[in-house]
Amino acid sequence: MSPKLRIEQALEEVLKTQESQGGPDSLNQAIRHAVIPGGARIRPQLCLAVAIACGNDDPKLAMGAAVALELLHCGSLVHDDLPCFDNAELRRGIPSVHAAYGQRLAVLAGDALIVMAFEALLHSAEDSLNRLAPVMKIVAQGVGVPNGIIAGQAWECESKVNLRTYQKAKTGALFAAATSAGASSAGSDPKIWTTLGDSLGEAYQVADDIRDVIGDIQSLGKPVGKDLELDRPSATRQLGLDGAVEYFDELVTRAIRSIPECPGQDMLKKLVLSESERLVPNALYDRALKELVIKSNKTSTV
Ligand code: IPE
Ligand code: IPE
Ligand code: MG
Ligand code: MG
Repeated sequence: MSPKLRIEQALEEVLKTQESQGGPDSLNQAIRHAVIPGGARIRPQLCLAVAIACGNDDPKLAMGAAVALELLHCGSLVHDDLPCFDNAELRRGIPSVHAAYGQRLAVLAGDALIVMAFEALLHSAEDSLNRLAPVMKIVAQGVGVPNGIIAGQAWECESKVNLRTYQKAKTGALFAAATSAGASSAGSDPKIWTTLGDSLGEAYQVADDIRDVIGDIQSLGKPVGKDLELDRPSATRQLGLDGAVEYFDELVTRAIRSIPECPGQDMLKKLVLSESERLVPNALYDRALKELVIKSNKTSTV
């Protein structure tokens, strides 16, 4: 079974367990809506890939960390879409959680996902409590203050923002947590894996900024043009489209070079390369460039 399918099954199991314990129906539905259907599931895949590269001698804990990272990511998206943040009505091709269930349940579903994430991690470590503390610390740092998602989102409330600091916290931190937690769950040193997570995470956010400009709502399953509309700092706004694509390529190269020599080196390289082509397909970029040339020709002849 592919790692992605195993991740889907593990997420389904967590949801079913939660639902079987009762609680308000609409809240349970809102939580499920936030997790399924999923997106790329890249963070848990990265966590498992690094765990495998490090020997994966505790697959239960590695999967617990992977599931926790994805639940935290899903919760962050629910909050990110709220009217007080990005006011986005569509996510993964369906109405965002607040659009389907209202703002109060969306806030609570996001909160619940944070708690469920740490519970899932805890349960997965019942037989390996000695490894739980370092893995939990890594996961917590990926979402908390000062360097995790929460801090990253809060940079949007400041008048002066450094783009790299903002993007590193908003997106990079959970990627760095994914590679580090993968290593740590297999009893390996997480430090040598942080550059891969950092670079790939930053590349991911730069790609998201590029797609916000040249992507379309149908294929992305979420609104485009939000960064400009909300006056958000973004790689394309700071570096221009060409500059952002160049920076994206540089980050992908940095990510690939940082993969330590290990039995899973080739598998990890393949994962990074296929993700980079999925994120910013060459064909999409070429088409956007052509459209820009046509537009500028039109304006110069008017
Ligand atoms: C979207 O993340 C938000 C960012 C941090 C760029 P993903 O692109 O991984 O979203 P899903 O999980 O695939 O929907
Ligand atoms: C990433 O930021 C979201 C989180 C860190 C929660 P964006 O607002 O740029 O992501 P999308 O484009 O809505 O997925
Ligand atoms: Mg946002
Ligand atoms: Mg958003």
